Amino acid sequence: MEAEKIEELADAKRGSWTVTAVLAVVVMTVLVLISGRNVGAPVVWVQTAAANFRQGSNDLSLLHPRTSHHDRLYGGLLVDGFDTESCHSRYQSAMYRRNSGRRPSPYLISKLRRHEALQRRCGPGTAAYSNALDQLKSGKSVASPECTYIVSISYRGLGNRILAAASAFLYAVLTGRVLLVDPSNEMDELFCEPFPNTTWLLPPGFPLTNYTDFSVNTTESYGNMVRNKVIRTDAAGDVPAASQLPAFSYVHLDHDATEQDNFFFCDDDQRVLRNITWLVMRTDSYIVPGLFLVDTFQEELDTMFPERDAVFHHLGRYLFHPNNHVWGLVTRYYDTYLAAARQRIGIQVRVFGAQPFSPELLEQITTCTQREGLLPQVLATREPTFLPASRAAKSKAVMVTCLKPWYYEELKSMYWEHATATGEVVAVHQPSHEEYQHFGARSHDHKACAEIYLLSLTDVLVTTGRSTFGYVAQGLAGVRPWVMYKPTNGSEVPDPPCGRDVSMEPCFHMPPSYDCRLKQWRDPTKDVPYIQHCDDAFWGLKLVGRNK
Ligand SMILES: *[C@@H]1O[C@H](CO)[C@@H](O)[C@H](O)[C@H]1NC(C)=O
Ligand SMILES: *[C@@H]1O[C@H](CO)[C@@H](O)[C@H](O)[C@H]1NC(C)=O
Ligand SMILES: *[C@@H]1O[C@H](CO)[C@@H](O)[C@H](O)[C@H]1NC(C)=O
Ligand SMILES: *[C@@H]1O[C@H](CO)[C@@H](O)[C@H](O)[C@H]1NC(C)=O
Ligand SMILES: *[C@@H]1O[C@H](CO)[C@@H](O)[C@H](O)[C@H]1NC(C)=O
Repeated sequence: MEAEKIEELADAKRGSWTVTAVLAVVVMTVLVLISGRNVGAPVVWVQTAAANFRQGSNDLSLLHPRTSHHDRLYGGLLVDGFDTESCHSRYQSAMYRRNSGRRPSPYLISKLRRHEALQRRCGPGTAAYSNALDQLKSGKSVASPECTYIVSISYRGLGNRILAAASAFLYAVLTGRVLLVDPSNEMDELFCEPFPNTTWLLPPGFPLTNYTDFSVNTTESYGNMVRNKVIRTDAAGDVPAASQLPAFSYVHLDHDATEQDNFFFCDDDQRVLRNITWLVMRTDSYIVPGLFLVDTFQEELDTMFPERDAVFHHLGRYLFHPNNHVWGLVTRYYDTYLAAARQRIGIQVRVFGAQPFSPELLEQITTCTQREGLLPQVLATREPTFLPASRAAKSKAVMVTCLKPWYYEELKSMYWEHATATGEVVAVHQPSHEEYQHFGARSHDHKACAEIYLLSLTDVLVTTGRSTFGYVAQGLAGVRPWVMYKPTNGSEVPDPPCGRDVSMEPCFHMPPSYDCRLKQWRDPTKDVPYIQHCDDAFWGLKLVGRNK
């Protein structure tokens, strides 16, 4: 309680000096401009605002309505005191967001501060960590381990790996485990450290042989240990003695997880797992809705996330701070193409398969954006038309992300060759196109990461259903996207072409279908009011807000 109060007071203080600080930066920048020096990307951004200010438009808030009151710590979600030079995005990202987003609950904030302390006390380099590694090498669990750990391994696209890391983190917070992210997640290539004065990266030399190859067939998987009766959970409430438990277990929650693997989402099994010092978890999904099905976690989750549709929103903004290289890509692009627009619209087009272009998908994009009033219609005539004088203030910047350039080129031509019915100016941009998805290629991932982040800085999002890339962007942005439905009738444009998502939460594509208490199949949406099936994947589960 006391800690929360202090945190709130600190927040109020920060709020007042942030205003002063930002004003000071603007004044300083004007001085810098006069002396003609160029001091790098962040200043370029302020230069834009300051230049506009001097032109007498007199409305800084038009460009960056939050500049004078942005909350760089996101309502206390982030902790102050990190070195700012090593990670510019951490304390700068809030000023690029028009949507300040949801407020984290005081309880979530206190849990995060406690978790950071745990990571420092037990993380790599500590005595506790060395002891735990020794124990892992010995192969036996001990009765009351000082610290317990979860190693998160993942693979596949960047969106999947981000959702996997966020899921493992929430599980770590719920169970008091130290989260260590395996290099296979490539978090170190793209993001800054989320926890102060420690590392979340698993150091080299982890003693389990070939653990990155663990699969559904691994003998030490929890599912296989249950199936082979190495671990027994049948006797009601009878948890095995620690001495009978292995020092580690592999939790397989991938798309091919078996029924026994999915016992992970059962209370009894969580009680067993609690006493295993090391867990190695592999998932390619956002398993968080599954954690909401575990009875023992429910109270904690309810208190941490009174707004259940904002779980990834907070986790994502807490964990994923692009490193300086990626942040440079983000801010330079934003400043050049997006900053001056009155409204920014992100269109995320995921093309499945090798087809370079699909006129039907293009039609789906234009019908969706025009019918929903996101983009203006164009006039049939190519004659010059009267444009209201205020047109500059009515501009829209569209950012398309897609592996193919074709959709962007078509949209751009459309708004270049025709006037809009509303007189609005529509500028269309696409940062990069890589033709096909490379898994784990370095420079590709840097650009993909920058694109996800840029999408999350737009005001309106249009996404392709079932894309983890879109899920991450919408969560970071804090907006419910318009989702383009997958055509069900051949390639015919679906009608309606898109719909507003019920929440900004990612969809858990492969949820458990087993009711732990009834020991039979059951649809969890029948019992839990804040979980429903996803519009874009009807078998999937997603968290929704109060008004289902
Ligand atoms: C990290 O450690 C340094 C030096 O001990 C300290 O000054 C700083 O406040 C710490 N940062 C955080 C966020 O705890
Ligand atoms: C580990 O992987 C390597 C390379 O794939 C293989 O040669 C080796 O036999 C594996 N070791 C074990 C113990 O499975
Ligand atoms: C697991 O074992 C089954 C049966 O032996 C095999 O068909 C499957 O390919 C294996 N899966 C993996 C990921 O190794
Ligand atoms: C399992 O862990 C709990 C809490 O960590 C502890 O109270 C209990 O004694 C442990 N059980 C065994 C059998 O060691
Ligand atoms: C599917 O498309 C065909 C040809 O366009 C049309 O005749 C048919 O009615 C459509 N079916 C549905 C279920 O919409």
